[in-house]
Amino acid sequence: MGRLIRERFSKDPDPFAEEFVASVEDDERLVPYDIEGSIAHARALSKAGLLNPKEAATVVRALRRIRREHEQGKWKLDATDEDVHMNVEKRLIQLAGRAGAKIHAGRSRNDQVALDLRLWTRDAIDSLLGRLSGLRKVLVRRARGTSDVICPGYTHLQRAQPVLFAHVLLSFHEMIVRDEGRLTDCRKRVDVSPLGAGALAGTSLRIDPRISAKALGLKGLFANSIDAVSDRDFAAEFVFACSLLQTHLSQIAENLILWSSSEFGFIELPDELCTSSSIMPQKKNADLVELVRAKSGRVVGDLVSLLTILKGLPAGYNRDLQETKPPLYDAAETAGASVQALTLAIKGLVVRKVVMEEAASGSEMLATDLAEYLTEKGMPFRDAHQAVARLMKRTATKGTSLADLTVAELKRASPVFEADVLSRITARESVRRRNSPGGTGISRVRQRLRQLSR
Ligand code: ARG
Repeated sequence: MGRLIRERFSKDPDPFAEEFVASVEDDERLVPYDIEGSIAHARALSKAGLLNPKEAATVVRALRRIRREHEQGKWKLDATDEDVHMNVEKRLIQLAGRAGAKIHAGRSRNDQVALDLRLWTRDAIDSLLGRLSGLRKVLVRRARGTSDVICPGYTHLQRAQPVLFAHVLLSFHEMIVRDEGRLTDCRKRVDVSPLGAGALAGTSLRIDPRISAKALGLKGLFANSIDAVSDRDFAAEFVFACSLLQTHLSQIAENLILWSSSEFGFIELPDELCTSSSIMPQKKNADLVELVRAKSGRVVGDLVSLLTILKGLPAGYNRDLQETKPPLYDAAETAGASVQALTLAIKGLVVRKVVMEEAASGSEMLATDLAEYLTEKGMPFRDAHQAVARLMKRTATKGTSLADLTVAELKRASPVFEADVLSRITARESVRRRNSPGGTGISRVRQRLRQLSR
């Protein structure tokens, strides 16, 4: 069988042009969705009386066979038939003859491709959500297992106040929860059937698009046929959700890289996830995690590609839309693999409790606690801040620390200080007391862990 749709031409296609416009490489992964869409369309045609029951059964049987042939590698897409839609239709006609030649009534490749991409994206979201829930569980499990470990909390990458390491892990958890929310929200707008929009204007045939939408388990139905074929908002939203997720993964990765460096030494990454150097035998490099950090550039690039392709398109289908496939796939696959990489890294990392607690023991980090002590006793916070700042200045010039101060010296800075202040100047006491809602206080973090274990 020759090409199906070149009867109007007197010449064969230019081989370069044919190759250039073909999308078969990007369409391989759409094959199962294209077939599912065709089965659903066959049902709508049969309800409309455009396929009799026997023809409908033949078509559905042939489509299932094509799916098997493709899974088994016995049938492949051919670039001389442009795309997945023409390839499937041609094979269907070979297998089902006249009944197969009826399948394209009332539809177009324009609504078909929009449908295939929606079905693909719906699955991509579900698979990403599955992986994210795995990452969240690992974060909660590691937080629970380290819920008494104190580490320095940072601002400007400078030691700021002691916090629970679990509180840091749970801060990552919150980012992932928001990513899941974005994906779930975007899924609602993916879950809409464009099938029945035809090329752009609907059809004169009495086909009910609700039948195919229902058969595909799609909750919504297009309201405007022109919008249905050109709308790729669902892809842009999904790739944005992947970009922000990947940005979070990159930030988490950066923390793991810093913590595993010899400068910090807070954690050790498992050997099986690390690589070595071709020249320096001592090296243990965090390449896996570094690549997660880097891949944010790639996914954000996918978002920029996608939006740039869409900008300036006139109403209706344009072939430009074909170019939205590679960034869509790439964003989903990169984010999915990155989630898996970080899940493995966080699952396997070893926490160096002693190193973290040593780093968190510097009494400068307790300056805010001293100011809050004075504030509790009625001193205006600004005055308390200044009194403690003066103390800090004095210890810094003398090369001592807050912990070395006697009650008499403290009293000289402010008469409000009493002997009970000394028990405050430890990292553990500082963390124990920070029980404001959402704070790093030990009982607050335990409470949050209990909520998350439900
Ligand atoms: N292969 C195209 C795509 O992926 C669908 C075909 C629409 N072609 C056309 N000439 N209207 O978007």
